[in-house]
Amino acid sequence: MKTKYAIVFICIVALVIIEKESNILSRVSDKLIQRQTPQLTPHSPLDNSNTTQNGPLSMLKMLLSKLTGAKGNYTNFSDEQEDDELEDLGTNSSSNGRKHILLLATTRTGSSFVGEFFNQHRENMFYLFEPLWHVERMLSLAAEANNGTALTGIYRDVLQGLFLCDFSPLEKFISPPPEDHVTAALFRRESSLSLCEKPVCTPFIKEVFERFHCKIHRCGPLNLTLASESCLSKQHHAIKTVRVRQLESLQPLVEDPRLDVRVIQLVRDPRAILASRMVAFSSKYQTWKSWAQDGQVPEDDEEVKRLKGNCDQIRMSAEVGLSQPRWLRNRYMLVRYEDIAQYPMQKAEDMYRFTRIPFSPQARKWILRNTQTTPRASDIYSTQKNSSEQAEKWRFSIPFTLVQVVQRVCEPTMKMFGYRIVDDEKMLINKSISLLEERMFH
Ligand SMILES: *[C@@H]1O[C@H](CO)[C@@H](O)[C@H](O)[C@H]1NC(C)=O
Ligand SMILES: *[C@@H]1O[C@H](CO)[C@@H](O)[C@H](O)[C@H]1NC(C)=O
Ligand SMILES: *[C@@H]1O[C@H](CO)[C@@H](O)[C@H](O)[C@H]1NC(C)=O
Ligand SMILES: *[C@@H]1O[C@H](CO)[C@@H](O)[C@H](O)[C@H]1NC(C)=O
Ligand SMILES: *[C@@H]1O[C@H](CO)[C@@H](O)[C@H](O)[C@H]1NC(C)=O
Ligand SMILES: *[C@@H]1O[C@H](CO)[C@@H](O)[C@H](O)[C@H]1NC(C)=O
Ligand SMILES: *[C@@H]1O[C@H](CO)[C@@H](O)[C@H](O)[C@H]1NC(C)=O
Repeated sequence: MKTKYAIVFICIVALVIIEKESNILSRVSDKLIQRQTPQLTPHSPLDNSNTTQNGPLSMLKMLLSKLTGAKGNYTNFSDEQEDDELEDLGTNSSSNGRKHILLLATTRTGSSFVGEFFNQHRENMFYLFEPLWHVERMLSLAAEANNGTALTGIYRDVLQGLFLCDFSPLEKFISPPPEDHVTAALFRRESSLSLCEKPVCTPFIKEVFERFHCKIHRCGPLNLTLASESCLSKQHHAIKTVRVRQLESLQPLVEDPRLDVRVIQLVRDPRAILASRMVAFSSKYQTWKSWAQDGQVPEDDEEVKRLKGNCDQIRMSAEVGLSQPRWLRNRYMLVRYEDIAQYPMQKAEDMYRFTRIPFSPQARKWILRNTQTTPRASDIYSTQKNSSEQAEKWRFSIPFTLVQVVQRVCEPTMKMFGYRIVDDEKMLINKSISLLEERMFH
């Protein structure tokens, strides 16, 4: 009897020791992978789910968890990758390995640029740029009357349709209405590579369709049936949107068993966003400009309230995401614009790793070309200063008065994301003071 207990005890001790070592090993390998030279390899080492999934370590972990009854506590000792796989075993997703990425942002956060990280994946990606633009435009009056909340369900349904390659929910909002599922009015079609290549891009009649040209070909009106077929033929789907305000409104979408949704929320310093919007949407921001000149901002102006509302919504969504509710576990990632500006390639790799889609050579090339980084690891950081400078330009264009307003109403949001409050104008424009605190978001 005694020997029996002794054997069981020894077994458990052995398992615990092996477990600890595997933990260290997986951390080390994780670090190695992160530091790895970004070469033009078609598949990152992390994609090979076959080996890890059947690997002895994850089997061990499952055994261990059964032994100790530590269900759902994998995060304490496993890296993200294995964690996800264990989770996948338990879910009944019928997405067939298809991943659905939702890039969630607000305007002037670099979302078009980050969207390209996925659009440029090419081979196996069906990417859509702001399809919800049509919904917002058609329903904007209703939206204003309802604080925008009436739109959330509609946004979600349209996104759900699109992730399933069904354009019909979106079609209802395209104006003029498509005829026979053909439209020449899809917003920013040219921002989606899949809609600009054969067979979706049908031969054009030059004179008539000059205005609707795509970057690669000039295309005739868009046949949405063909778009849907193209979508079905692609392994992964990504949508970028600046129109979804509340992350929690997406719960039914994320829980849809036909989908395997991962959400990337992109945020930026609200002071920089305001500075950028004042340039980009000049006429809409007249009020702010006049305040900048007067040096006076009314305390409870509608514009200030709207700014506060936006900041609060972004923060609340991030709070939901970072609190890792069950429905979002391992499906949410928060990324700061400023970090992407500093380390574009590294951040792109992080994002691809999170989505568990292989980082394609084409996407890598595009990022290199568009950030002027060179393929050697030692040079990756050489543009760091330059990019950071770009990302910090706003400090010299926005009047301190407006910075104060933003800081007053957005302080909780800024603190959460690690954007430093400035005390005076000197600090604002002193380049040797960084306004960005190091943050890891998990
Ligand atoms: C996974 O392993 C199976 C057989 O063990 C093989 O048929 C399949 O091609 C592998 N998949 C990948 C992605 O390596
Ligand atoms: C998970 O781990 C944490 C920290 O190690 C511990 O506080 C918690 O009780 C564990 N949960 C379960 C269900 O074992
Ligand atoms: C998984 O889903 C399929 C259909 O989507 C269903 O038939 C099956 O019963 C489900 N299995 C579990 C374990 O829920
Ligand atoms: C709608 O706006 C009002 C003020 O404009 C605010 O008090 C209320 O909380 C908002 N409702 C929602 C659901 O955001
Ligand atoms: C759109 O494409 C589908 C699928 O190829 C085709 O059946 C349909 O006739 C096309 N529609 C038009 C108006 O050309
Ligand atoms: C940043 O890089 C761009 C493109 O290489 C270059 O034109 C610009 O002068 C650089 N700026 C600084 C401050 O080095
Ligand atoms: C900028 O900040 C640094 C660090 O706080 C300080 O040493 C320096 O004097 C400041 N420069 C100016 C011009 O205020």
